[in-house]
Formats: sequence, structure tokens, C-alpha cells
Amino acid sequence: MSDRKILVTSALPYANGPIHIGHMLEYIQTDTWVRFQKQRGHRCYLVCADDTHGTPIMLKADREGISPEQLIAQVGKEHLLDFTEFGIAFDNYHSTHSEENKLFSSLIYERLRDGGHISSRTITQAYDPVKAMFLPDRFIKGDCPNCGAAEQYGDGCEVCGATYSPTELKNAVSAISGEKPVEKDSVHYFFNLADFTEMLRAWTNAGHLQAEVRNKLAEWLEGGLQQWDISRDAPYFGFEIPDAPGKYFYVWLDAPIGYMASFKNLCTRQGLDFDEFWATGSDAELYHFIGKDIIYFHALFWPAMLSGADFRTPSAIFAHGFLTVNGEKMSKSRGTFIKARTYLDHLNPEYLRYYFAAKLSAGVDDIDLNFDDFSQRVNSDMVGKVVNIASRCSGFISKRFANVLSANCSEPALFQDFINANATIAEFYESREFGKAMREIMALADKANQYIDEKKPWLLAKEDGKDSELHEVCSMGLNLFRLLAAYLKPVTPALAKNAEHFLNSPIDGWVDQLQPLTGHTINDFSPLMTRVDADKIAVIIEASKENLEKTADKPKEKKFEPIAPVIELDDFARLDLRIAKIIKADHVEGADKLLQLTVDIGDETRNIFAGIKSAYAPEDLEGKLTLVIVNLAPRKMRFGLSEGMVLAAGPGGKDIWLLSPDEGAVPGMRVK
Ligand code: 2FM
Ligand code: ZN
Repeated sequence: MSDRKILVTSALPYANGPIHIGHMLEYIQTDTWVRFQKQRGHRCYLVCADDTHGTPIMLKADREGISPEQLIAQVGKEHLLDFTEFGIAFDNYHSTHSEENKLFSSLIYERLRDGGHISSRTITQAYDPVKAMFLPDRFIKGDCPNCGAAEQYGDGCEVCGATYSPTELKNAVSAISGEKPVEKDSVHYFFNLADFTEMLRAWTNAGHLQAEVRNKLAEWLEGGLQQWDISRDAPYFGFEIPDAPGKYFYVWLDAPIGYMASFKNLCTRQGLDFDEFWATGSDAELYHFIGKDIIYFHALFWPAMLSGADFRTPSAIFAHGFLTVNGEKMSKSRGTFIKARTYLDHLNPEYLRYYFAAKLSAGVDDIDLNFDDFSQRVNSDMVGKVVNIASRCSGFISKRFANVLSANCSEPALFQDFINANATIAEFYESREFGKAMREIMALADKANQYIDEKKPWLLAKEDGKDSELHEVCSMGLNLFRLLAAYLKPVTPALAKNAEHFLNSPIDGWVDQLQPLTGHTINDFSPLMTRVDADKIAVIIEASKENLEKTADKPKEKKFEPIAPVIELDDFARLDLRIAKIIKADHVEGADKLLQLTVDIGDETRNIFAGIKSAYAPEDLEGKLTLVIVNLAPRKMRFGLSEGMVLAAGPGGKDIWLLSPDEGAVPGMRVK
């Protein structure tokens, strides 16, 4: 074992949605690198966690009628299952909603505060008076101030691409309640990032960053660093700030601290020394793999926070580009927004591991998953070149030589050529030039196939007196195949494991440690990887489109909502539910989902805005019966006053059902 100690992280996925293949690019890149380090004999740990805090998670749990803790427990399990099936071998997978994270978040905050790096001041923000909460920018909707497009979020317009502040939106409403936001003051806490300008200038130029990233940071540093708002007001799902009741750490404050927390949890379980990795002056290496969209957090805030709180800073940040599919941004309508689970349901995860490896470099360029190229590369490289060597040789060894390899290595020079490539391939893996490593490995595979082509074992098998040559050639072929499996082990660990079983010999350590197997009994061969079935790709794309149709309207992931919290009979008795007849229905100008209804509730008519436009045209509704809560406080909406609520059943979209006229039901009848 070498004395390199390496701690590696992948970015923590948000616990408000499933893992998709865009995420997988990063986890596959990280896992490949970590597997390589372990195979080289280094002490290397890969830790990660679910990123669990913040408003979206709180609101999603609320919509699903469960607690945020229940939501994150469920999502955490799903995430880990997806990762495991993709062969991502975390040494620890934790949660930012953990005791360890709470402790470190408080500790880091307190050290920063005591060092004079935290300030507080009052700021004014949009506030939802119905939900009694401050609204993050993307929970405010309205008309784009630039192009006028309706239903745009507070941070930017998806139609014209303009960015603006939520106060500039026209006809702004809360995306949560539909109510017009008001402005409200509140004290916020800030991290004085500018205190670290000199430290960051030195750090960003000290070899911890890729060249492209360093240049970007130089621009940011040049522009001057702003204070960072690290607090959010209740209600918020997160950790309360120790000396500020009702104030919570912003999710991005405790998220990177989650790296430490996950490692601390591993230390406790395995008796490792936390300080050896995190104390100032530690000689351990610390690497964060991230997407290029979160560089600001990792290359500015994070090193500044660590240094201000007397912890070591990262050895390097490794940023990668985004994933495009078939040349375009992943798209739900094109079926290219593919969930990890959908992929796993149909295709071998090692196809994708190999494909990503073949395309990855150390840079931040975007990577395209082109499905034709994907099939072609996997079929030609992995199946046609690598696995083919084993299938060409194994039959003779089993049928003619009782699965025993020849007693000698007949081509030591060729074997040595394969071994000699190890330094170059290792260097490519080490520097994250996986594409280059794959090209070297495939060049070796070509060489092995050429050797077999020249020796023609299929002809030797038919000639008398060539048994021993046949034995040597096929044994040599299998020994070369073993070296290829060893080189590919960080990328295709399952294939390597199957090869180990087939060859009845473990591949431990780096390739330069391996000796030819001679006089050795192997197991029967079974196909180690089959060709990509193009039909399966079509099925995945189709299934991903279906995902969209099913989730076009809320509820997003579930067709049926879980049962809401239990209420008492008294609560129910407070509802005045009446049968109502819809006497008039109209479109509402500027509203995508609402219809304006005039309903007869027996002794009066009411004006109600109902979000049922996806299921009904106004003309279909007139004359229909429905249930209405008539004692709901009237709500002022931007279209007018809504005086009650229509009750309907169904998952949303086209499936929303009202009552149909039924004999005996008359407007005004009370429902009990
Ligand atoms: O961008 C994201 O998906 C974040 N959840 C990444 C957090 S990485 C780290 F800082 F925790
Ligand atoms: Zn616009």
C-alpha cells in the first residue's frame, strides 16, 4: 500500500428529484477515478450524500402530505439504489440532514463569526402572505418584463432568455399560493467573502484548478467579491443558526459541509482519523468532482469557508461539462431526459460507463451522448474487440484442453508490450484523460486481435500435430484478454469481475503486477457483454416521453397522492360543502390553468376560479354539477375574487373529474 491518502467527493444530488443520466456522467467519472486509485493501491475514499435542505424539498413534502424527513429518507434510498446499480462504489453515502452535518455547520459558522467574517443586516424580500413565507426567486411567477411571456419565474424568462429580479416581473404572483407577494423586511446573515480576496487570489493560482476554471475565477475576483447571504427565514427545512432563532442556514452553506459530515460518519464507522484528512496542514489529498455550473460555490465560497474556519482547503476541484443527448440539451419532450432508473430497466450500465469514459477528458467541455455513436462504440470496442478475444479463444481451451491453460507463455514479448503500456494508461487515468486511456486500451485490443488473426487458431484446430500451438495461441489470447480486463477494471468493474471468475484468478492491483497465467485451470466461458440492442434505446426514449406525459401536471411523480394528515371530525364539520350547478364557464385571459365559473349554490350564485382548464372546455361544463366549499374565505386573485372552491378528483391534466348530473342532487344541497 502506498502512502497516498485521498478523499474524493461527487457533488451531492438534491433530494427533490430522481437521478438522471446527466448526473451519471459525474458519478461515473468520479467512481472510475476512485476505482483507479484503489487499484493502484492508494488509500482512497469516495464519499457523498443527499443534499436535503431548502424550500423546494419542504414544499414538495408538503404537497405529498409527508414530512420532509420522510421525503428525504425515501429519495435517499432511491438515489443510492440507482448509484449502486450503476456500479458507483461509495465508501459512504450519507445525508446533509444528519447530526454530523449539523455539528460541522454550526462549528464552521461559529468560527467564521468569531473571526469577524459574518455580518447581519435587514433586507427586503417578496413574501407570500397566504403561506406566511418569504419567496425564493423561482417561486415567484409573472409576465416577463422583456417579452411579456406569461408564467415566467422570478429569476429569468424561459421564452426570451432575459434575466431580471423578481421585482421586475409584471403581475407577479406566488407560485405556491397564487397570491400577490408583498414586500417584507427581515434580518439576514452574510458571509464576508471579500475578507478572503487575497487568500482566494493565491489559492486559485496555486494549481488547484483547471486552466479554464482559473480564468473564470480571475474574472470574478477582478469584479470584486460580494457578501454571501447565508441565512433564510422560517419556515425552512434546514438547520437553525445557533445564535439566531428562526433563522436557518441556506442550503448551499451546509451542502459542501456535507462532504465533511459524510466522511466523519465513515470515520466513526471504520475508526478512521478525521483530522488526518481535514486539519489545516493535512498531507492527505482532497478532490471535489463537480459540474461547471457550481464552480462559484466550490472554488470561492468553499475554500474561503474552510480557511476561515481553520480547516484544510481542497487539493483540487475537478469540473466537468454538461451532458447533451443527440446534440441537444436533455429534453423531456424528445424523450432524452432519461432517468437513471429508466436506463437501468433496459440497458447494461457498463455500456454507459464505457461510453462516458471514451468521451471524457480533463476539460470542462460538454459531452454528447449520441445514441448511434453509443451503440456503435460499445459494439465495436467492448463487444467486437475486447470480449471477442475471450470468445475466440475460450471454446478451444474448454473443448480441447479441459479448461487448462498452456504451461508456458508463448509470446513473452507481446505480453510485455501490454504491460509496458501501463505507465501511459495510468497517467491518462490519473489526469482524468479517460478518452485517451480508452484509446490506448483499444489499440492493445486491436493488437491482441491481430495476433489471433495471424495465428488462425480455427485453422490450427483442424491440422494434425498443431495441438500444442493451438493451446499456446489460445492461452496467450486469454492472457492478453485478462490484461485488457485489468486495464478496464476502473471503467467496467462488473465485466472485470466476470472475467476474474471466468479466468479463475483475481485481478488485484495495477496491471504491472500481473503475471501470465500458465498451467492454470479456468472456468467455462459465458458471454461477458452482449451487443447493444438498438430497440432498447427506442424503448428508453419512449418511456422517457411517457414520464413527461404522466408528470405534465402536478402531482409530479405520483398518480395518487398519499393520504393527507389525519383530521378530526370537528375539522370536517367546519367545511360547508354544497352541491353546485355550473351555470356559466369562461376562459380567463392570461391564465393557463384557470376557468372562471359561475355556480348556483341554491340560494345564491358564486364566482369561482378553478384550475380545471386542462380537463374541460368551458362549453362542456355548463349544466354540470360539482361540489363546492362555500364557506372558504374569499380569495383575491389577480383575475378577481374567488368565492369558494370547486372540488374535483383525479391526478390532474386531462384527468380531473367533476360530478355528473345525478337524479336527486340539486344545487344548494348540503353534503354531510
Ligand atoms: O447542484 C446541485 O445539485 C447541488 N445539490 C450540489 C451540491 S454539491 C455540494 F456542495 F454539496
Ligand atoms: Zn421573456
